[in-house]
Amino acid sequence: MCCAGITNYLFHKLRKYTCGLAGRESDADMSLKQGSGTGKVHFGGLDDVSLYGTPVEPAPPAPDAKQGFLRNQLQALFQPTDNKLAMKLFGSKKALMKERIRQKAAGHWVIHPCSSFRFYWDLCMLLLLVANLIILPVAISFFNDDLSTRWIAFNCLSDTIFLIDIVVNFRTGIMQQDNAEQVILDPKLIAKHYLRTWFFLDLISSIPLDYIFLIFNQDFSESFQLLHAGRALRILRLAKLLSLVRLLRLSRLVRYVSQWEEVYFLNMASVFMRIFNLICMMLLIGHWSGCLQFLVPMLQGFPPNSWVAINELQEAFWLEQYSWALFKAMSHMLCIGYGRFPPQSLTDMWLTMLSMISGATCYALFLGHATNLIQSLDSSRRQYREKVKQVEEYMAYRKLPREMRQRITEYFEHRYQGKFFDEELILGELSEKLREDVINYNCRSLVASVPFFANADSNFVSDVVTKLRYEVFQPGDIIIKEGTIGNKMYFIQEGIVDIVMANGEVATSLSDGSYFGEICLLTNARRVASVRAETYCNLFSLSVDHFNAVLDQYPLMRRTMESVAAERLNKIGKNPNLVAHREDDTTSEGNTINAVVNALAAEAEHVSLSDDSVARLSERSLGLALQPLQAASCRMAGVALPGLGVAAALPRPKSEHDFSSAQAQQPPLAATAAFHKSDAGIAP
Ligand code: CMP
Repeated sequence: MCCAGITNYLFHKLRKYTCGLAGRESDADMSLKQGSGTGKVHFGGLDDVSLYGTPVEPAPPAPDAKQGFLRNQLQALFQPTDNKLAMKLFGSKKALMKERIRQKAAGHWVIHPCSSFRFYWDLCMLLLLVANLIILPVAISFFNDDLSTRWIAFNCLSDTIFLIDIVVNFRTGIMQQDNAEQVILDPKLIAKHYLRTWFFLDLISSIPLDYIFLIFNQDFSESFQLLHAGRALRILRLAKLLSLVRLLRLSRLVRYVSQWEEVYFLNMASVFMRIFNLICMMLLIGHWSGCLQFLVPMLQGFPPNSWVAINELQEAFWLEQYSWALFKAMSHMLCIGYGRFPPQSLTDMWLTMLSMISGATCYALFLGHATNLIQSLDSSRRQYREKVKQVEEYMAYRKLPREMRQRITEYFEHRYQGKFFDEELILGELSEKLREDVINYNCRSLVASVPFFANADSNFVSDVVTKLRYEVFQPGDIIIKEGTIGNKMYFIQEGIVDIVMANGEVATSLSDGSYFGEICLLTNARRVASVRAETYCNLFSLSVDHFNAVLDQYPLMRRTMESVAAERLNKIGKNPNLVAHREDDTTSEGNTINAVVNALAAEAEHVSLSDDSVARLSERSLGLALQPLQAASCRMAGVALPGLGVAAALPRPKSEHDFSSAQAQQPPLAATAAFHKSDAGIAP
């Protein structure tokens, strides 16, 4: 061994030296050759960090024998693997690699808590613990074969495994609660920590106190010959009681389960896992209580006034005895009754009280947990109810009139639909990319229904939708007041609004997919008309700052909007030249836009056909006009016109001319902006 060690050392030194001379390539070569023995490739460098900053595992010493190979395999089992627990603790593979190096440095035979070995060991221990905690009380209470080979073998085997568990615990690194990233790997510190915490409980529950007691009881072997003699019986009973100490293993079960729960069931599953654990714990305590109900009278020799004697169960089959005992315990625990008969003896009464107290405590815990869990399951609904309750109290406090209260309640119902989320807070906690994706997804129906978006560059759409704010208006609400200075425009996701003139006449109506309030932002003047909600309106608003910021980047979209605005102004008898740039717009792209807009207007004016027909007609007549626009769109960021582009995508407007009788009197429009679903068909 000593020789092999020296050879290894020399080999290492030589390797370092040659690597230093030949550079990194030869270093890798060397490691490759070395690693081939274990089937692994190690790119060992001069230090612990590779060129890319990734920590590198030191190459293992040259495998000199099979023994070395086995040792390596075993040590690999003790190292942290990239399982869920490790990833949660260290976050990245790089950190995990560092931890492996640290674990190696900590010395051989220290088991990392995130290693595969510990995972499988814990799993086995969990199964053994459950088996122990169920079988032990039944065997102790209902069977008298304490000294049978079967029972002794079972106890010896499980005790041995639990004692080995203590040894394993002494060599397992410790995850600290406060400093989760730093796992204690120093054997001395591990031992100190374990001795201070669970060691004694684990030890007491693992050593076979009952057998030790029997062995050390000098007279036992003689007394055993006369088993019916009083002393021998007493000794056996005491040993039985001592064997109950094994039930302290429950502490280990609780520890293992809570550790697993934390790592493997973090999300929704954890809610159900906690309920499941609680139910299991209640059943286990019920099982123990049932066994205790029988054990105590049995140790007393079944006095005639004990419940076992009253029920004549002394000689019954163990399953019958157990069933009655469990029934009695459950009746107490759930505070439903006393079983078949109320307690007659003092011992029975005390036992009943004990199980009543434990049952009531468990029941209270269960109710508390279950209520908590149910509440956390539907927290948004609960928050909504709380919010509504608060609003109701506020309305009462402010003595608001009945009609206003009604409107507020209806607003809440429509706006939040029974669930309350702090959307801004939730989205604010996401990464920028994720936030953008979520907002784009949320606005997909708006984008699909607004032709202005449907035909626009996806970057433009994304830029706009990330800046939109959802707003809800009720029927009759004045969304925009004529003559005021506006600071936002709106896109209609759902609902109908009326454009109302100064004289109270309704100029037109807009519905899903339309937008309004843009003229004021384009002209920097006052609102040219009032806008009133006819039905419940789900709108998205865009503030003036965002409006300008986005349109500055996409000039073609600004011009498109200006074209629509000019037509709108024209329609309500105002000067279309109010809209800036419009007159100066003599570029080829501008002309193309106008050509398309005019052509579409002509189509819409003369033909009143179904959506499909309009699309087909547009396709035919606008084919030529669109080609330059498509080319223009490529040059100027803004409108994207895949295939047929604008005209083909133009659906016949929903809100075309049915909402307002006043529209019938309007003169035919010279040109109608085709980017606006509702506007496209303003013509009679
Ligand atoms: P703004 O002036 O900011 O506020 C009132 C809005 O009503 C106006 O912008 C337009 O968006 C809208 N509007 C005015 N006239 C019409 C019209 N003829 N057709 C559609 N919308 C209009």
